Amino acid sequence: MTYIVELPNEKENGLFKNGESITMTKISIDPESCTHCGICMKICPVGIIIPGAEDNVPFIPAEAETFCSECGACEAYCPTECISPIFETEHYDTTEIGTAGITSEQLGTYMVNRRSIRNYLGKPVDKATIKSMLDIVRYSPSGMNSQPVNWTIVHDTERVKKLTAHSIEWMRNVLESDVDHPVKPFMPALIGSFEAGNDPICRGAPHIAIAHAPAENPMAFTDSIIALTWFELAAPGFGLGACWAGFLKIAADSYEPIREELGLPEGHAVQYAMMFGYPKYKAKSVPGRNPAKIKWI
Ligand SMILES: Cc1cc2nc3c(=O)[nH]c(=O)nc-3n(C[C@H](O)[C@H](O)[C@H](O)COP(=O)(O)O)c2cc1C
Repeated sequence: MTYIVELPNEKENGLFKNGESITMTKISIDPESCTHCGICMKICPVGIIIPGAEDNVPFIPAEAETFCSECGACEAYCPTECISPIFETEHYDTTEIGTAGITSEQLGTYMVNRRSIRNYLGKPVDKATIKSMLDIVRYSPSGMNSQPVNWTIVHDTERVKKLTAHSIEWMRNVLESDVDHPVKPFMPALIGSFEAGNDPICRGAPHIAIAHAPAENPMAFTDSIIALTWFELAAPGFGLGACWAGFLKIAADSYEPIREELGLPEGHAVQYAMMFGYPKYKAKSVPGRNPAKIKWI
């Protein structure tokens, strides 16, 4: 097998796994239940699990543990469930494995019925429901399993209204200045709609989910978009609807009062935002979309 991470030559380095002498800090493998099937070694994305020199029980050499992304693949795929994480982690409360009997048709129906929801009932979503959604969303994939996304849930609807007001304030400032901004052409209409009593930014949603992470983390944006995509997809399963809050995200990038309202940790940036709540209307049909643009090579 080829290793993505270059491991030290065990023999040359005198690194032998002999009983207690090697202490792994990432995973523990129960030698009694291990059948030496080698699946953990094949499944490890960085190839750092290798056979023990004496008893053939797999292990991670101490030098390689730093490359473990704590993805849990070895634990999840071990047929005898003899691998346990030692690192701090929290498991999802399920005994189901796989697709829980969901057919591709059922999945397709669920996914294509997701719509951007821009009209909400006044009814608030209780925190337990939001926590259950985020408990699913924390399983969304992230680069090197770094899980950089932090959530600020704007649960207080009055604060949501303030975020809209701040966004409009920012747009007024931009319009009055010489600053060039790609959203500038849309600003007069958005301000006009706000002045007419509408909420063109957060659409009258009771709540906003803010995905934030350290601004200097170059991977956090992609990971946040994936996490929010999961959030939006999970919403209908809880009877909820959501919509990307693009204008809010754009305003948050430029306007300090929005960051202050959110009370983000120092150095964190709003990676993206999503409004959510109970939908006011129910779609009657699924709209059309472009056919998939595919090139087979
Ligand atoms: C990155 C992104 C930003 C968006 N920003 C907004 C927004 O600020 N306001 C809004 O009403 N819809 C916003 N949308 C929703 C899109 O308009 C919507 O996804 C698209 O029209 C397709 O409709 P559907 O989601 O119902 O399939 C955004 C969508 C994405 C992916």
